[in-house]
Amino acid sequence: MNAPSDTPQAVRWQRAQALVGQGVAAIDTPSLVIDLDAMERNLNHMAAYARTHGLRLRPHAKMHKSAEIARMQMARGAVGVCVQKTDEALALAAAGVNDIYISNEVIAFPKLQRLAEAVRDLPTRFGIAVDSAAGVLRLASALVDAQVSGEARIDVFVEIDVGQGRCGVPPGEPAVDLARLIAEHPVLRFAGLQAYHGGAQHRRDPGERAQAIAEAAWAAALTRERLQAAGFEVPLITGAGTGTFALETASHVWGELQVGSYLFMDADYARNESAPQAPVFEHALFVKAQVISRAAHHAVCDAGHKSHAVDSGLPAVWSPPGLSFANGGDEHGLLHASPAGSPLPSLGDTVWLVPGHCDPTVNLHDYLVGVRGGLVTGEIERLIRIDARGAVG
Ligand SMILES: Cc1ncc(COP(=O)(O)O)c(C=O)c1O
Repeated sequence: MNAPSDTPQAVRWQRAQALVGQGVAAIDTPSLVIDLDAMERNLNHMAAYARTHGLRLRPHAKMHKSAEIARMQMARGAVGVCVQKTDEALALAAAGVNDIYISNEVIAFPKLQRLAEAVRDLPTRFGIAVDSAAGVLRLASALVDAQVSGEARIDVFVEIDVGQGRCGVPPGEPAVDLARLIAEHPVLRFAGLQAYHGGAQHRRDPGERAQAIAEAAWAAALTRERLQAAGFEVPLITGAGTGTFALETASHVWGELQVGSYLFMDADYARNESAPQAPVFEHALFVKAQVISRAAHHAVCDAGHKSHAVDSGLPAVWSPPGLSFANGGDEHGLLHASPAGSPLPSLGDTVWLVPGHCDPTVNLHDYLVGVRGGLVTGEIERLIRIDARGAVG
């Protein structure tokens, strides 16, 4: 955060920073809190998984938007990180992350100009996904306009639609056409295929996830064959998310995992039925909230939609046990006894929530409060900046 030191954001940061070393009770509410021990176990677990399976790990930083966490991932062997937006890439690059792949299409000239200037001026290695001739041509011309010289200055992945029905060209020949176009521009390097099936990640039934990834693997392998038959080397197929990465791994088609949510694990991912071959990750991201009102049959806490995203469902109540969370609006959460008869918390009590969806929840906050030693008796170890908060362009 480079803002002047007297902005409200800076004042809040300084106030929270002054609490470092104190117990969790000192954390203001609502605050976004990381259980550092749980996060580090998740980090190590995924790093070990990728190493054991001989796969490159490029975690998705759209989830945490933090240069410090990106560096922690890279210190444990990640080759770099993914982001989804140009400004996320620029925010992390400005904070020193040196290998960033935008796993998404960028078409607007001003964004491509910003990216081209970063390619020219920063030591960071960038990559980007394309799924149209216009995307390739605009990228190439932005690099020329910014006087980016030399060969292979940015990695370009052709995205294929492997079943989600979002971005990506159809598998097969259309990817070959784009690879040919990329090859006409020496400043670009054809780096391989982006093959991510977002729609498969949250299918509850492991059998349905397996079916979706089997089809995605077939589409990616077919596209690679077509490219090779046309004389292209396909250096890498990249993709996979927390819900399916063990399936992409088992297929031997993908060479790189883009998993993001494994690090924090939200309530929605916890609703997936786990597959026997998939490692299990812990919840590490919490909203600390406080009971601000009590009625006969419910309590009200101070965390609503402005402290946690609700696109994938409401938060789960982590503690105290025996409570469910209901929608109380922007600033409030309603707590009900579940099962009926469980004790309701009292005024002033702390409530720990697991957000429904980690990525958009993080984007609502300026920093994470890192706690060491657990949520009950732990201490505030440090604050972690969410460098790309609000970087949606
Ligand atoms: C392109 C891409 N790759 C990887 C991921 C990571 O998925 P997850 O957070 O489910 O691990 C996402 C998440 O939306 C994504 O959009």
